[in-house]
Amino acid sequence: MSMISSMLKIEEVRKDLARLNSDALNADQFMDGVTRVLHEKMLKYNWVGFYMLEPGANPPMLALGHFQGAMTPHTRIPLNQGICGAAVSLRKTIIVDDVKSDPRYLACSLETKSEIVAPVFVRGQVAGELDIDSHFASAFGVDDRELVEYCADLVGKRLEQK
Ligand code: SME
Repeated sequence: MSMISSMLKIEEVRKDLARLNSDALNADQFMDGVTRVLHEKMLKYNWVGFYMLEPGANPPMLALGHFQGAMTPHTRIPLNQGICGAAVSLRKTIIVDDVKSDPRYLACSLETKSEIVAPVFVRGQVAGELDIDSHFASAFGVDDRELVEYCADLVGKRLEQK
């Protein structure tokens, strides 16, 4: 895919997200739709899912929410484990270009080569995250970070309406 067609694809995805945001009846439907759009349209996004903080869990725990792709063994992740735990603990997006070289990485599929995790903020507090795995090394560049953070942001805003 050329630079231009990849930018057009991201434009198309943003339009799909806007439509979805106005059609979805609640945050839950919206999150499900976000995973579907990203998984279907972004060819290198091979696993797309949300992990959300379990209300009242002590110690805090991330629980698998809506996702697209193969079932993962990691349905609950403590904050001191994985790239997922790190993104929530550090309150920032993490991109790992080569998962084999990151000791924090929890393997979900043998095919995964790179990963991006963006926190979802609700009223300034981390409520969960959007996690995407790719079968391709270094799959997530500046445009992907922008898109994934935009999705996480839209979800945070929907959750704030609850
Ligand atoms: N790789 C993640 C675990 C979740 S799976 O990718 C779906 C991590 O290191 O936290």
